[in-house]
Amino acid sequence: MNNDYQDFIKKVYKKTGIDLSCYKEAQMKRRLTSLYEKKGFKNFQQFFDAMEMDQTVLNEFLDRMTINVSEFYRNGKRWEVLKNKIIPQLLAKSKRLKVWSAACSTGEEPYTIAMVLSHFMPLSQIKILATDIDENVIKRAKIGIYPERSLAEVPEDIKRKFFTKEGLFYKVNDEVKRTVTFKKHNLLADPFESNFDLIVCRNVLIYFTEDAKEILYKKFSAALKPGGILFVGSTEQIFNPHLYGLKSEDTFFYLKI
Ligand SMILES: C[S@@+](CC[C@H](N)C(=O)[O-])C[C@H]1O[C@@H](n2cnc3c(N)ncnc32)[C@H](O)[C@@H]1O
Repeated sequence: MNNDYQDFIKKVYKKTGIDLSCYKEAQMKRRLTSLYEKKGFKNFQQFFDAMEMDQTVLNEFLDRMTINVSEFYRNGKRWEVLKNKIIPQLLAKSKRLKVWSAACSTGEEPYTIAMVLSHFMPLSQIKILATDIDENVIKRAKIGIYPERSLAEVPEDIKRKFFTKEGLFYKVNDEVKRTVTFKKHNLLADPFESNFDLIVCRNVLIYFTEDAKEILYKKFSAALKPGGILFVGSTEQIFNPHLYGLKSEDTFFYLKI
């Protein structure tokens, strides 16, 4: 039974370049097993054979393995720290900031970064790179239309300034959309750009094995300028940040030494 999953990992890697062995096994196996059982398959072998024959099954697999939940200003207090402490600190060192939202899902996170930065500079001067492994979420991010629940933590003035209500949905205004460049990127396989002032990578490291996390911390550290900041999710504290050339600057913010 275990070999069934190990074989599946190898075949998926060959087919898609996605390395499931870097994701926590029990959790990933549970998610994928419940999907294939629902579809009437008996094991990972049958599931993979169906993925080979039918693109929709492959898409369902991708949809299940990438957990896409996101929202604007997720964990609002942390974004206050970003605005009140971290950004002023970064701007004291350089006027233009190079910013990356890594594993950006449907776009709420990079658009939130743009809205926070707009307190300090005109939107026309803001440039954010936003990446995700999942092309479907990138398509949705580019459209920029969200249900009300995604905006629960958005401050009222920001909501009025940067969103247009369309029926039951909220559309991010074009000036905000223009600040973000979306690209497909696999954190576990693709090269990283360098010289970032700020990297925001939240609520994805939690799904990875300890080994994969360590590699990523090193790569994020190498991608930051000295004095640059890595902002992680609210369950993703880095133990021993100094091992990666980082130090804690505030809760869930790490400074590149
Ligand atoms: C829970 S969402 C987090 C979204 C956003 N960062 C936030 O905190 O609200 C996790 C995202 O990680 C992406 N992801 C999973 N594995 C990835 C990988 N290897 N490389 C890049 N993105 C990945 C998924 O597609 C998903 O959109």
